[in-house]
Amino acid sequence: MWDKNNYKLIKSRSKPVIFIQSLVSNRFTRKYGIICILLLVILAILSYRRILFQKYIYQTLPLYQRSVSLTFSNSHELQGTISNDRWMDIGDPKKRFKLYSAYFDPRLEIVESYDVPDGFLPFGSVRVFAILPLKIQKTAVFCNFRSDNTYEAQHQADQVESVHEHWNMEFTASYVICKLAGNINKRTILLPDEVALSYHAEPSMREATAFVRIKYPRTDMLFQSTPPNELAVCVGPMHHNFGFALRMVEFFEYYILNGAARFYVYNKTATDEASAVLRHYEAEGLVEILDWHFDGYQFEHELRYEGIFVALNECFYRATVTGGYRYTAIVDFDELLFPAGDNESLLDYLQSRDRYDVHSFNFEGVFFYDIYPTDQAQVPPWANNTYLYTQVRNMRTTNPLLHHNRSKYVMKGRNVLEAGNHFVWKAIRDTNEYPVPENEGLLLHYRDGNLGYDYENHVIDNRVRNRFGDKLWRKVNQRCTLIFSTSVGAKGICPLGANYNQTRPLS
Ligand SMILES: *[C@@H]1O[C@H](CO)[C@@H](O)[C@H](O)[C@H]1NC(C)=O
Ligand SMILES: *[C@@H]1O[C@H](CO)[C@@H](O)[C@H](O)[C@H]1NC(C)=O
Ligand SMILES: *[C@@H]1O[C@H](CO)[C@@H](O)[C@H](O)[C@H]1NC(C)=O
Ligand SMILES: *[C@@H]1O[C@H](CO)[C@@H](O)[C@H](O)[C@H]1NC(C)=O
Ligand SMILES: *[C@@H]1O[C@H](CO)[C@@H](O)[C@H](O)[C@H]1NC(C)=O
Repeated sequence: MWDKNNYKLIKSRSKPVIFIQSLVSNRFTRKYGIICILLLVILAILSYRRILFQKYIYQTLPLYQRSVSLTFSNSHELQGTISNDRWMDIGDPKKRFKLYSAYFDPRLEIVESYDVPDGFLPFGSVRVFAILPLKIQKTAVFCNFRSDNTYEAQHQADQVESVHEHWNMEFTASYVICKLAGNINKRTILLPDEVALSYHAEPSMREATAFVRIKYPRTDMLFQSTPPNELAVCVGPMHHNFGFALRMVEFFEYYILNGAARFYVYNKTATDEASAVLRHYEAEGLVEILDWHFDGYQFEHELRYEGIFVALNECFYRATVTGGYRYTAIVDFDELLFPAGDNESLLDYLQSRDRYDVHSFNFEGVFFYDIYPTDQAQVPPWANNTYLYTQVRNMRTTNPLLHHNRSKYVMKGRNVLEAGNHFVWKAIRDTNEYPVPENEGLLLHYRDGNLGYDYENHVIDNRVRNRFGDKLWRKVNQRCTLIFSTSVGAKGICPLGANYNQTRPLS
């Protein structure tokens, strides 16, 4: 029955052909085989794109950034180092859009996902700090750049973000990021001096009018070497006629003993005494006073307290970019970060625990409430100023609140993207928080006029007193003599402030 030719034909079919035929002849494998092949192709395309993207991020962008030479316009050098930042209206003041300051940011992680036109590459970004409505139309926000007072360019904002803790109020602390990109065929790039925001959905804001100077790192434009300075401290806005002069001096001296070299203090309203303290430290280059005067919002209804979340974020950029500080602490005048190890300063502690992949050190809080009895036993007889919080208040809550619950932190500014009041919200890829254990450090909160959690459980804690007492008593009294001996009747006494035990500090 078998035909010779047919027999031969079958025999001559090669194995691959048989394999393919059997695949195609089976309906099940045909259907799913094709899907598989499609998936494989998609996977190949995706991984190829990923390789290209990784090349863009890790090779092209850094190569480009390092190869271009960034130059300033003629007027740049004429600008002094004193900050004259202040709140400015964008367009019609009744609309209550405001901006405060702007910083250059060389970190490429921020710009890597932004679109750029063909023939251009980003080498950094400019971050503008502002108060904007929560429900802003983001695509209508533009950055307007200027150099030597000449209009240069307008770009749609790459990102318009509100700081996390906005509580859905009408206005929110915001930042606007615009990339800076250069033509790949040019070797030098002229950096913009100033930036203004415009908003095309609102007629009075279409034209750019309120320009702020962009702050650049003084040296090391691209953050390539280690930061030149170590520890800076940011203090949230002073408001309601803040007047606790003695507490401020104690605060500054405590942190100076702990390695702080610069304080950034935001002044909305302060008494003459508090201002005298600030000006004294300013004259020594220790304090930078920022004008935080603005109004028009109902705080806690339309905007979170005193615009604090703009201050926190603008402050760590100021410390990191302009100041060149490695560490930035964010605290209030009644909050001291205490390193618990023997004989350590806060700075020693941070350096001993630091690693490349840490973005912040988070300290759990304990409270020294004013209802606890004070202990005046250690007040030196010669002291003109006797009520030092760290020296007469030695009873505190036993159990610290957990991390992120009213905790405070020291951040490494170069690793942080968005700061919050109690912890870091956004940080550079692959970096983590270091939760400081209780035996290594604590946030000591000398709270006045406000009874909080767990006050029934208390212990005596004399560690700050024993470690820093001698130096603090001397330093504080010396400073107060310098600041408050000229006016009649002042006698080297820093005013405690009326109702000093009724302050209601932020947070
Ligand atoms: C702080 O602000 C108040 C109110 O605007 C002002 O009177 C005072 O002079 C300022 N103090 C300093 C040190 O700038
Ligand atoms: C702390 O310092 C004092 C004096 O400088 C010294 O006597 C003491 O041994 C030190 N303690 C520790 C644990 O290093
Ligand atoms: C913080 O801790 C206290 C005491 O344990 C607790 O009552 C409170 O709910 C906590 N707050 C938050 C925001 O977790
Ligand atoms: C206390 O104040 C007086 C008057 O200003 C001053 O002469 C004296 O040196 C001060 N004492 C200390 C310990 O600073
Ligand atoms: C707090 O201040 C009030 C006066 O403002 C005073 O009567 C009270 O004794 C003070 N409390 C403490 C604990 O110092």
